[in-house]
Amino acid sequence: MKITAAVTEAEGAPFALQELDVGDLRPDEVLVRVVAAGICHTDLIVRDQWYPVPLPAVLGHEGAGIVERVGDAVRSCAVGDRVGMTFDSCGLCRSCATGRPSYCHGFFERNFLTRRPADGSTVLSRRGEPIGAHYFGQSSFATHAVAGERNVVRIDGAIPLEVAAPFGCGIQTGAGAVLNTLRAPAGSSIAIFGSGAVGLAALMGAVVAGCQSIIAVDVNAARLELARELGATLIVDAGTGDAAERIVAATAGGVDFSLEASGRPEVLRQAVDCLAPTGTCGVIGAPRFGAEVTLDVNTILTGGRTVRGIVEGDSVPSVFLPTLVRLWEAGRFPADRLITTYDLDQIDEAAQDAEAGRTIKPVLRVSAPGQR
Ligand SMILES: NC(=O)c1ccc[n+]([C@@H]2O[C@H](COP(=O)([O-])OP(=O)(O)OC[C@H]3O[C@@H](n4cnc5c(N)ncnc54)[C@H](O)[C@@H]3O)[C@@H](O)[C@H]2O)c1
Ligand SMILES: [Zn+2]
Ligand SMILES: [Zn+2]
Repeated sequence: MKITAAVTEAEGAPFALQELDVGDLRPDEVLVRVVAAGICHTDLIVRDQWYPVPLPAVLGHEGAGIVERVGDAVRSCAVGDRVGMTFDSCGLCRSCATGRPSYCHGFFERNFLTRRPADGSTVLSRRGEPIGAHYFGQSSFATHAVAGERNVVRIDGAIPLEVAAPFGCGIQTGAGAVLNTLRAPAGSSIAIFGSGAVGLAALMGAVVAGCQSIIAVDVNAARLELARELGATLIVDAGTGDAAERIVAATAGGVDFSLEASGRPEVLRQAVDCLAPTGTCGVIGAPRFGAEVTLDVNTILTGGRTVRGIVEGDSVPSVFLPTLVRLWEAGRFPADRLITTYDLDQIDEAAQDAEAGRTIKPVLRVSAPGQR
């Protein structure tokens, strides 16, 4: 079978639409006709090789579409189902077995090595030569994606797939950080550094959680204005002075929770420095491999503060993605406000708009939704 896919050829190269061949499905795999695919900031840092992902490969890890074919062993979805695709996990290691699949011991190989973990093969080829696929168990910058049963979730209800697609990574990451990881209680305070798709999804999660003080920090005035409309009680322009100092002053001693969602190491320092005693800072933003940060040991020690990494908002996708869909349906999680749509052949324009801060969450419209 032939598909059209956006190939990332080498470090920093533009996405190139090409015709590729899809091989046979394994018993636990699902062929999805992609309707919509979000672009996450992580796709762009992988294109730029901040993470050592083998290229050439097809990227894209926020795909949603219609199941066209299933392997013999697949039970959780059927041909014709609307599905979202999310990160992959093994289901067997200690993290997976204890309900924490985003910390799967095989997370890197399953999501970033662009080969099937079982045997190093790939389902995609170009003129007879294998080409990287299986990125986040999907490689969804394409008309069709081959996913694993474990990383496909049925999307019920009327939510458009172009809204549900980015729930598979950026949106569940932000919302899950607040609702699953930090479990911020009603009445608590939180400072969110970065008002991109991840940070604003965290902000919407904080509103759902009933946080009393929700502080959005960014350097982009339009994004801060949107943060205010979405429920921020205070916005802080990090371009004009020390954000941590201003947050500590505005909250009479610091916040209960903070999130680093800008991907900049120097911002992590700020996110730790604005915590109240016993506060927790969640590290979400992804800088280059090897990036280091300096923290004041006594800031952490004397106040009993915690700094912890968060992957994919601690989501158990089969539970959390439907939860976010229900919240969206109830009008309590307006993630559609972050989205700008593009056609598949506008993928470079979409990436440039995101990097320039003009678009918060670009979503590619790949094919018509059609009948269920
Ligand atoms: N941990 C995970 O599971 C996970 C999942 C998805 C994305 N990510 C990472 O999360 C980060 C955010 O993703 P995104 O899609 O929202 O990206 P984004 O680029 O849209 O958002 C980053 C935001 O940070 C802002 N920023 C820049 N300098 C700042 C400063 N000094 N202080 C505060 N804000 C500043 C930018 O203006 C931008 O709005 C990226 O690093 C991405 O790779 C991590
Ligand atoms: Zn695992
Ligand atoms: Zn992502």
